[in-house]
Amino acid sequence: MAAVPLVILLSLRTISPRKHRLFLLRISIFFFIFLSNPHLSFSISEDEALIKFKESLRNTTILDSSWHKGTSPCDKIKKWARVQCDGNTVTGLILDEAGLSGEIDVDPLLALPELRVLEIANNTFSGTIPEFFMLGALKSLYIDGNQFSGEIPKDFFSRMGSLKKVWLANNKFSGLIPESLVNLKNLMELHLENNAFSGRIPSFSQASLTYVNLRNNKLEGEIPQSMSRFGVEPFKGNAELCGQQIGKECSKETKKNEEAPMSKMKWIILGIVVGLLLLTILFRFKRKEDHFDKLGKENFVEGLDVASSSRKSMSIQRKGSESLRGSSRSGGSMKGGGKGMEDLVLVNSEKGTFGLPDLMKAAAEVLGNGVLGSAFKAKMGNGLSVVVKRLREMNKMNRDVFDAEMMKLGKLRHRNILQLLAYHYRKEEKLIVSEYVPKGSLLYLLHGDRGLSHAHLNWPTRLKIVQGVASGMCYLHLEFASYAVPHGNLKSSNILLNENYEPLLSDYAFYPLINNAEIVQSLSAYKAPEAIQHQHLSPKCDVYCLGIIILEILTGKFPLQYLDNQKGGTDVVQWAQSAIADKRESELIDPEIASATDSIEQMVKLLHVGAACTISDPDMRIDMKEALRRIDDVSLT
Ligand SMILES: *[C@@H]1O[C@H](CO)[C@@H](O)[C@H](O)[C@H]1NC(C)=O
Repeated sequence: MAAVPLVILLSLRTISPRKHRLFLLRISIFFFIFLSNPHLSFSISEDEALIKFKESLRNTTILDSSWHKGTSPCDKIKKWARVQCDGNTVTGLILDEAGLSGEIDVDPLLALPELRVLEIANNTFSGTIPEFFMLGALKSLYIDGNQFSGEIPKDFFSRMGSLKKVWLANNKFSGLIPESLVNLKNLMELHLENNAFSGRIPSFSQASLTYVNLRNNKLEGEIPQSMSRFGVEPFKGNAELCGQQIGKECSKETKKNEEAPMSKMKWIILGIVVGLLLLTILFRFKRKEDHFDKLGKENFVEGLDVASSSRKSMSIQRKGSESLRGSSRSGGSMKGGGKGMEDLVLVNSEKGTFGLPDLMKAAAEVLGNGVLGSAFKAKMGNGLSVVVKRLREMNKMNRDVFDAEMMKLGKLRHRNILQLLAYHYRKEEKLIVSEYVPKGSLLYLLHGDRGLSHAHLNWPTRLKIVQGVASGMCYLHLEFASYAVPHGNLKSSNILLNENYEPLLSDYAFYPLINNAEIVQSLSAYKAPEAIQHQHLSPKCDVYCLGIIILEILTGKFPLQYLDNQKGGTDVVQWAQSAIADKRESELIDPEIASATDSIEQMVKLLHVGAACTISDPDMRIDMKEALRRIDDVSLT
């Protein structure tokens, strides 16, 4: 299924000017996080994720006594309340009838890849439906018996193909029944009763569906043929429904509409066009009014906001960048009045030019969530695919500093450095746009879906990746020699692979931009022993991270060094050191590559380089240049 362009979402309903900020904010979140994706990052552990999730809830006394950070939610003896486990993995959250409320933050749950059951029924949650659509593996979603309201986006369930039980009953949902429910191939139970759903019933024809309840809504029109087997019961309490099934003939008009979907389509398209026109006019009109300043400060779309002032835009231009004007539809031009949606600063136009309107129209999906923020893929109309990163943790950054930093990043050119294409500045958060790299991250290729991807990572490929990474790192160490840590966040999830398995480093050189101490500490450079023990950061921390990558690639194991609580992975550093001491290096080589027996010598040599990069004493550790030299040496062996 295709991602949905923002422009369609924009036309879903009309907005009052006062509410537009909130509305667009929601839409933009929807746009960015629209489709969930299996490539989850291993950024936080399950206990941390659940605690973070809990923090978004209120009245959690029932959980407080057993949910403790640093303990295992699935502990055999002291299992966390209301948590379902399979072995050591959380598979369900059974939070029904617990008096809970608050604004559910779904993000942390992304760190629970095995979560199958989410039950928050019969509490007092309210507001629009939380972003459950990100939880692509859910089989059961019980949110009935709350105060949820508003429309559920049409495509809400598009990426939730595992869903079997969907209970939304006894809330205040309105609008159409989301079309995407129809495409859930495994759907068994659907409870939508006692809401205010309106419009026609989409045609549910899944053979798996055994129970449907649509009672007491405001549904209308003919009951689809495909649902005749459900009898009368599920449809009661909807005065405007008709059809043989309930013994009420449909008027010709209702039938006609059904028979002519094309003419209906025309109306929808016309509606969209008119909606867009109105929106454009609305914005232009508002700008000219006295509200000019006020509106200027509001966010147009979260992350895609109205530029702060023309002066700033001009100052960016002076710095030699190209501030893009989007298509004429965006309204307003930089020179005349000077602001609008075009406040996307292009720092590198080699891959093509685009503006915010192009981005808004792009089909989007989520790539993952990391410590710095979330990443999204967006495919624009001109065919260019980009990654949009939303950086939440660079708050309060002075714009001039940020601009200067971005300009610097935009000038980087190296075959192993992911190119920054554009950025967008707003006080609360920043968006940076880079080229999209098709194969995904090294982390995913090494530890993700083994069956799919692993086979391609043979020894020559792995060696090439290590070489590329080291080469990119050396470049960064030259370019950012003055930084405490030139990269600062090197780890396998930040190494992307292009179609030729050439590695591209991402998330580099952010260290000076982050002003949140806690986040700084979650950067991978902070996993070096001297950083953990003495908060001492130096370029050698990057070398340590490179060492971890080398050991990760050689062993195929997920390093515990990536985990904050150091539980769950393999201590590759310790393992390598003892294997070297015992002269049993070849034993820890990933079986997938160990069969290339004539290369074992190379692998062992590289293992020694990895060990030299991960020596705990930074003074004893080799530097980046030496690491590259030794790695190049391996390939000559
Ligand atoms: C919520 O409460 C209702 C009414 O007591 C009950 O029928 C329903 O099964 C409950 N929902 C869940 C998921 O337990």
